[in-house]
Amino acid sequence: MAYLYLPVFIFLLSMACSCQSDDRLTPAKPLLPGDMLISHGGVFALGFFSLTNSSSSSYVGIWYNNIPERTYVWIANRDNPITTDVPGTKLAFTNSSDLVLLDSTGHTIWMTRSSISAGGGGTAAVVLLDSGNLVIQSIDGTAIWESFDHLTDTVIPGVSLSLSSSDAAASARRLVAWKGPDDPSSGNFSMGGDSSSDLQIVTWNGTRPFWRRAAWGGEVTFGTFEDNTSFTMYETITGGTGDDYYIKLTVSDGAPIIRVSLDYTGLFTYRRWNLKTSSWTVFVQFPSSACDRYAFCGPFAYCDSTETVPSCKCLDGFEPIGLDFSQGCRRKEELKCGDGDTFLTLPTMKTPDKFLYIKNRSFDQCTAECSNNCSCTAYAYDNLQNVDSTIDTTRCLVWMGELIDAEKFGNTFGENLYLRVSSSPVNKMKNTVLKIVLPAMITFLLLTTCIWLLCKLRGKHQTGNVQNNLLCLNPPNEFGNENLDFPSFSFEDIIIATNNFSDYKLLGEGGFGKVYKGVLEGGKEVAVKRLSKGSVQGIQEFRNEVVLIAKLQHRNLVRLLGFCIHEDEKLLIYEYLPNKSLDAFLFDATRKSLLDWPARFKIIKGVARGILYLHQDSRLTIIHRDLKASNILLDTDMCPKISDFGMARIFGGSERQVNTTRVAGTYGYMSPEYAMQGSFSVKSDTYAFGVLLLEIVSSLKISSSLINFPNLIAYAWSLWKDGNAWELVDSSISVSCSLQELVRCIQLGLLCVQDHPNARPLMSSIVFMLENETAPLPTPREPLYFTVRNYETDRSNESVQRYLNNMSITTLEAR
Ligand SMILES: *[C@@H]1O[C@H](CO)[C@@H](O)[C@H](O)[C@H]1NC(C)=O
Ligand SMILES: *[C@@H]1O[C@H](CO)[C@@H](O)[C@H](O)[C@H]1NC(C)=O
Ligand SMILES: *[C@@H]1O[C@H](CO)[C@@H](O)[C@H](O)[C@H]1NC(C)=O
Ligand SMILES: *[C@@H]1O[C@H](CO)[C@@H](O)[C@H](O)[C@H]1NC(C)=O
Ligand SMILES: *[C@@H]1O[C@H](CO)[C@@H](O)[C@H](O)[C@H]1NC(C)=O
Ligand SMILES: *[C@@H]1O[C@H](CO)[C@@H](O)[C@H](O)[C@H]1NC(C)=O
Ligand SMILES: *[C@@H]1O[C@H](CO)[C@@H](O)[C@H](O)[C@H]1NC(C)=O
Ligand SMILES: *[C@@H]1O[C@H](CO)[C@@H](O)[C@H](O)[C@H]1NC(C)=O
Ligand SMILES: *[C@@H]1O[C@H](CO)[C@@H](O)[C@H](O)[C@H]1NC(C)=O
Ligand SMILES: *[C@@H]1O[C@H](CO)[C@@H](O)[C@H](O)[C@H]1NC(C)=O
Ligand SMILES: *[C@@H]1O[C@H](CO)[C@@H](O)[C@H](O)[C@H]1NC(C)=O
Ligand SMILES: *[C@@H]1O[C@H](CO)[C@@H](O)[C@H](O)[C@H]1NC(C)=O
Repeated sequence: MAYLYLPVFIFLLSMACSCQSDDRLTPAKPLLPGDMLISHGGVFALGFFSLTNSSSSSYVGIWYNNIPERTYVWIANRDNPITTDVPGTKLAFTNSSDLVLLDSTGHTIWMTRSSISAGGGGTAAVVLLDSGNLVIQSIDGTAIWESFDHLTDTVIPGVSLSLSSSDAAASARRLVAWKGPDDPSSGNFSMGGDSSSDLQIVTWNGTRPFWRRAAWGGEVTFGTFEDNTSFTMYETITGGTGDDYYIKLTVSDGAPIIRVSLDYTGLFTYRRWNLKTSSWTVFVQFPSSACDRYAFCGPFAYCDSTETVPSCKCLDGFEPIGLDFSQGCRRKEELKCGDGDTFLTLPTMKTPDKFLYIKNRSFDQCTAECSNNCSCTAYAYDNLQNVDSTIDTTRCLVWMGELIDAEKFGNTFGENLYLRVSSSPVNKMKNTVLKIVLPAMITFLLLTTCIWLLCKLRGKHQTGNVQNNLLCLNPPNEFGNENLDFPSFSFEDIIIATNNFSDYKLLGEGGFGKVYKGVLEGGKEVAVKRLSKGSVQGIQEFRNEVVLIAKLQHRNLVRLLGFCIHEDEKLLIYEYLPNKSLDAFLFDATRKSLLDWPARFKIIKGVARGILYLHQDSRLTIIHRDLKASNILLDTDMCPKISDFGMARIFGGSERQVNTTRVAGTYGYMSPEYAMQGSFSVKSDTYAFGVLLLEIVSSLKISSSLINFPNLIAYAWSLWKDGNAWELVDSSISVSCSLQELVRCIQLGLLCVQDHPNARPLMSSIVFMLENETAPLPTPREPLYFTVRNYETDRSNESVQRYLNNMSITTLEAR
């Protein structure tokens, strides 16, 4: 069958060649300014062009022939423009099978070095293909040279990028951005395979890494767009001549025109041609957020892009070194090496930089590879997708030192990272305690008074009644003198209320455990906090603590309705508040405008009163220890309610002022003496309140990255000291009416975050200063106790430069 078609095919081919000769150059026919080569199907064109009206800066390049917006995909002489207004300039194909760009005086401006003689000259030619590839073909049709191997700044389907940088051919495939929007000469941003680890692609700003794509795993697929364009885009791996791999861009049939380029701004941008709007539409761009910036957080830290504002966190089992993440994190507990270590699974992570890629390993072999070597800190395993058959698809990555440039992805692109930690149980508890807490989100005020739920311990306080095993009974003797009506609920009811703690009932997760929404029989909504197993208390102590804490009642505290103990489960049942927590408003670009200044001021005052109650007006003195925006819940009237109070007591730290080695809390809200020495007091809460105050005024997270300032406190101080405090105020608040109040609040916030605990006011004074506009405010001292960050790495040096500046922020430039 094939034979029958062959002559027809040859005939068509020769037809095409004879009538459509302007897709090629031959030695006899050079290209002159004004001439064009058009690919056979009319898709691409090659010719002389200039980007300005001056013909003294002309280039030879390839552009799309069939779209109205002139877009160049390849340029021959980007760094050597020529003049076309003098005759003699031409692009010629030589007898020795090189393509040469000659100026009017006959000087060579640019040339290919195909270094293969076509042998006998004659019919060799340069052909512009419909793929956009300019190919020098020898007589037998094989490609001697291809523009696809000599990229400028653009990848189009069919082009491949090298995943290693060892060979010279790979460096020719680096992308180099234009210098500016109208200047195609080589700019400072470049992109290509990375010399430190195979299988990844890095964008550099000069010599410094700017963005790193995660280690290669598989395909990237894109779906349907709003204009019903639908296509698939693959990036496949092909083996090169040696050990090197290439990724090749391929799109499905019927896809729009796709173009990927390293823009002069350094952004690696995927665009498609939108026929409806007749313009290029960006559909993916990297780096896309601050988290994507190379080594945004220090070693052993990662950037969490699942948060509304990206923030740095330590990997599990690590704690911050300084007061921010510029120096990264260190192990809380040294590795024992051997059986003392275990591997934690961190899901949806971007693989960190500087791995070793080990071929031909099964998952178990990869695990062994890491666990058998004490210097191995982590490993990851995947199978390469979309590979050609010559390639070993196993992909075992191991890290032998620092983990740098890790990120937690909010989508499915991440993969499991197996992190080596010491397996001591204390460690595990500390990990969870330090995690950012998205705590109890709780709601509807129940009409009835408190419902006490008590669990009877299965098997322990047991009398053998099987039916009672699962019941959370109310033992009347323990509450004999409390005039409360305690309905009994079983653990089973809570299982039903929370669909057996199903993930979709999950409201949040904090250091002390997960919080689920529950609907009790009769439709009452509650929030159920399932305490993590870290509590050091026995059952009886726990019970006593909860009963004490349940007696704390204040309109600015979330109401604890009861608890339940079942085997090793400890559950706290709270009222459910539907309006979520303060951070969900404050740090959300659209929702923050729902909080005008009166609403915010009301929240500030409410929180202050709630803390004051905990500190001094309740029967107990409770230090919250984890005050932060996500622990402030809002009821239907946007009245604040503090949650998670008393947790420190439940977790066995009820002392009034202690030096503890177990620092629990949330980074950024921790006072210097607590973070550094583990010493806490009511003044630690004052500090956290001060941070919260500044956050409420500015809608900026304490952890947000600010230009020129190490953190929000430094920024606030700098503005306040220069008399520009109002500049801190969130622009969605109209300042005109309440400027005085706002500036007072900022000053009060700065009073609360002073370094020395004694300098910080008590909550009672704070409440007074908030309520009485004429009460004088002391002048705050400059808060010095934090570091000035600047985490920078220079790949060419390989040393991590960190510098600590805890001297004075006044040396910093103002914005
Ligand atoms: C180039 O010339 C055209 C027409 O003469 C004019 O509209 C355009 O503004 C000029 N562009 C520049 C960059 O000078
Ligand atoms: C190239 O080939 C043409 C004809 O094939 C010939 O006339 C010319 O002299 C050759 N030039 C060189 C430099 O060999
Ligand atoms: C590019 O790098 C050079 C040398 O590092 C520097 O002088 C120049 O300002 C940089 N250009 C841009 C646009 O950043
Ligand atoms: C690139 O590096 C230069 C300094 O070499 C710096 O001024 C510039 O801001 C960097 N660009 C980006 C986008 O980070
Ligand atoms: C996309 O397709 C859907 C269903 O076929 C249609 O309802 C919608 O109008 C289309 N949208 C556009 C922009 O064409
Ligand atoms: C892969 O490893 C197995 C043993 O684990 C070995 O037998 C095989 O030859 C290896 N293959 C390659 C291509 O190295
Ligand atoms: C552990 O890995 C390092 C780095 O690859 C290597 O130098 C060292 O020899 C290995 N140690 C063992 C015991 O395999
Ligand atoms: C609840 O889930 C646990 C594990 O997730 C399971 O062992 C248990 O049987 C489930 N209970 C019910 C009542 O479905
Ligand atoms: C708070 O919750 C109530 C009741 O669910 C709702 O009516 C109100 O709109 C919410 N307020 C905000 C700002 O979301
Ligand atoms: C805590 O430590 C500080 C200094 O580190 C010391 O002055 C203080 O007395 C200690 N407090 C307690 C209760 O041990
Ligand atoms: C407010 O503070 C001023 C100055 O301390 C005091 O004179 C005044 O009595 C206070 N007002 C109230 C209502 O407490
Ligand atoms: C790297 O930089 C540091 C600090 O700038 C310098 O002390 C060190 O000598 C450099 N190392 C190399 C190998 O150049």
